[in-house]
Amino acid sequence: MNPAAAAQVGDPVAAIDTPALVIDLDAMERNLSAMAAFARERGLRLRPHAKMHKSAAIAKLQIAAGAVGVCVQKLGEAQALADAGITDLYISNEIVAESKLTHLAALAGRVKLAVAVDSVLGIERLAAALKAAGSSADVFVEIDVGQGRCGVAPAAAGALAHQVVAHGLRFAGLQAYHGRAQHLRGADARAAAIRHAAMLVRAAQASITSAGMRCPLVTGAGSGSFAFEAASGVYDELQCGSYLFMDRDYADNEATPNAPAFEYALFVKSLVMSRGASHAVVDAGHKAHAVDSGLPRVWQRALVFANGGDEHGILTPRVAGGALPGLGETVWLVPGHCDPTVNLHDHYIAVRGGLAQGTVEAVWTIDARGRLR
Ligand SMILES: Cc1ncc(COP(=O)(O)O)c(C=O)c1O
Repeated sequence: MNPAAAAQVGDPVAAIDTPALVIDLDAMERNLSAMAAFARERGLRLRPHAKMHKSAAIAKLQIAAGAVGVCVQKLGEAQALADAGITDLYISNEIVAESKLTHLAALAGRVKLAVAVDSVLGIERLAAALKAAGSSADVFVEIDVGQGRCGVAPAAAGALAHQVVAHGLRFAGLQAYHGRAQHLRGADARAAAIRHAAMLVRAAQASITSAGMRCPLVTGAGSGSFAFEAASGVYDELQCGSYLFMDRDYADNEATPNAPAFEYALFVKSLVMSRGASHAVVDAGHKAHAVDSGLPRVWQRALVFANGGDEHGILTPRVAGGALPGLGETVWLVPGHCDPTVNLHDHYIAVRGGLAQGTVEAVWTIDARGRLR
């Protein structure tokens, strides 16, 4: 019993208070199995990104389905998931603040931990913190494969990998994630971006070989491009996150040939709280769903959602004269972007049996909500 949650286990869907973040468990499990099978059939490791769901309960389901562990992006996410029982975590991101590295080294003493680096200073500080704590971590060298965010140029990978080892750390391989490629709408455009990324990975591997080392593993890929990384022959591990819930933005991508199609599994349940002659107002504004990738899609209704501010959403018919929901009616929203939407909520209300007639099977705390450091 969690009095702060929008529903309790056993409640019918109709009783879920609004606004609430709701998982359609049947759809989520189909997404989970489809990605697990995709990786398994190709002999690839799957390390899903938990920055998306921030939940130990969900990470455990992914691991039970074959994932080797999960990725996170922040030390705080790693700490929260470790506290909730996840024992194999990869921070696929750079950490250079000494105060954080002290905590990272302590965490590395109680779970299997990996982290990405892209600078000598980062390596020096990581090595010093791990030495002081007497712990160890796997270290991935991040290369920039087209996003223009973190990561060194492929030709610099060998020198940085050498620095990792010279500082007494374990070189685990290459981090090669192309975030910008995920949302290129056309499948051909995504394929071309990942072909280029794979070429850069090969160049980085050559640089590592020239430095007299071998590259044990290449990790990367997201929900928009994983089929291309998988086919490239250079990636060993997939880091997809959003496939599990999907969102409006990912659904707007052209489908990838020969890749599983994922279903919407994450919704904001909202309720019509006011009705005008030509519009309805729901009780879910941008404090209930992120707007960085656009506004929500209204699920299975010919309605358009317009921003009504922090606490409101304004619905109008998609075609003139179309039907509007009545006062007190439920309206299900598909968020524009799942990751930052999740970060707005304390709990998932997980429903079995569909959004119309289902029952609440679980209420999960979003363990790493707000863990931005
Ligand atoms: C480093 C890294 N890997 C993997 C992912 C997963 O991507 P997605 O949620 O789009 O599948 C992300 C998402 O931003 C990321 O930053």
